Amino acid sequence: MSRKPNAIIFGGLNTCSRALAALLVPADGAERLVEHLRIVDKYSVAPPTTYLGSVFPEVLKQPNVEYRQANLTVASTVSSCFEPPAGQAPYDYVFDFTGEIQWDRPEAVQITHTFKIARLIGLEAARRKVPAYVRIQHPFYQCKESGSHDEKEDVKPEGVMGTWWHETLRALGAIPDLNLVIVRTALPYGPYVNYHAVVPFIAVAACYGYLKQPMKAVNSPGKYPSHTVHVDDIAGAMWACAEWMAKIGRKEADAIAGEEIPFKNEKSKVDEVEGMVPHNQKVIAPLFNIEDDSKVTLVELGNVIASYFGTTFDFHNFVTNMAAKFRLEDVIEDINEVHVSTWTKMITTSNPPVPNTQFSSYMDVYCLKKRVVAFSADKIKNVVGYTLKRPHFNHETVGEMVEKLKAEHSWPNNDP
Ligand SMILES: *[C@@H]1O[C@H](CO)[C@@H](O)[C@H](O)[C@H]1NC(C)=O
Repeated sequence: MSRKPNAIIFGGLNTCSRALAALLVPADGAERLVEHLRIVDKYSVAPPTTYLGSVFPEVLKQPNVEYRQANLTVASTVSSCFEPPAGQAPYDYVFDFTGEIQWDRPEAVQITHTFKIARLIGLEAARRKVPAYVRIQHPFYQCKESGSHDEKEDVKPEGVMGTWWHETLRALGAIPDLNLVIVRTALPYGPYVNYHAVVPFIAVAACYGYLKQPMKAVNSPGKYPSHTVHVDDIAGAMWACAEWMAKIGRKEADAIAGEEIPFKNEKSKVDEVEGMVPHNQKVIAPLFNIEDDSKVTLVELGNVIASYFGTTFDFHNFVTNMAAKFRLEDVIEDINEVHVSTWTKMITTSNPPVPNTQFSSYMDVYCLKKRVVAFSADKIKNVVGYTLKRPHFNHETVGEMVEKLKAEHSWPNNDP
């Protein structure tokens, strides 16, 4: 290709598509990777109806970058999003971050907002023969506590959300000639990331650091994998996979990196949901994990974060002692009481005060549940040749995140 590719990003403003946009079209003057970039999501960006962070609005100001607010449940809308602006070549790369990430939404919402939207985008991308279609897969699984943690390991989709995100991979994988690559991530963190469980965990640690008390967690003794990945590596991996796929196409990609995406749903759903792939149809698609090299356990994760804030990490005895009697749902408010009131104090007495921050130390049941996450990144390193930008989860990477949030006034600054 003599020109740079054109790319379109669907969804994910509330997860990690902003980091990819900033990689493709840096706002700091670094060389851009794409000619034209379109980003499509359901949110408004001016005024913002979701947290955007301070960098993304600068990306949108760059030349040949377009944001479009759209209802992607409508097939004709999806199709129109693929029409490039006048004078531009058709899109070369499609990055699909769409899907509902709130774990407690009903199944019907998951089917419409996760399964259906991705399938519409995938069908349209296949129809237009887009050279690369990269789909994100969040860590909505329970992994095994030990083993190789590679892409062949059998992992269990978690709950309604996990089930439909996984089902979406089958639907996309079954679309003939879709140049699909799936990137499956460990626990995400990094600047301007405000989804999943690591970020509230960091806010809670900040509270206990402020109180000068040990941080207490549930799920003792926490010796299970809680592997992390920096958002820059999620973005980097997705870009690397697009370049890899565009050169070889789906058939060769399946031969080199295809994995079976097993059926994990109820068989009765197949007749109820349009586009669902029958349980006995084998689906193969290129799949790559991405995680950092730290491969931390929950205890190690807690130790890194707590020590960054000058405190220590420990476990709630009352929860572990009573685990047989009480459900997490019943003790959730007790667990949150101290650190939520502390966070409120921190953001209101901060210099400057940041009372409207979208970051919170509230830990919901989903955040607190034991979740084993381990997705070895050996395959993407060996097959695609990807090199991690942020291989370690440590004080430096946690500190970079906190300092950038302080600088945009979305994290409390309570330094004396
Ligand atoms: C999106 O379109 C669907 C189908 O027409 C409609 O039911 C839904 O209300 C729309 N959503 C929004 C936010 O407008």
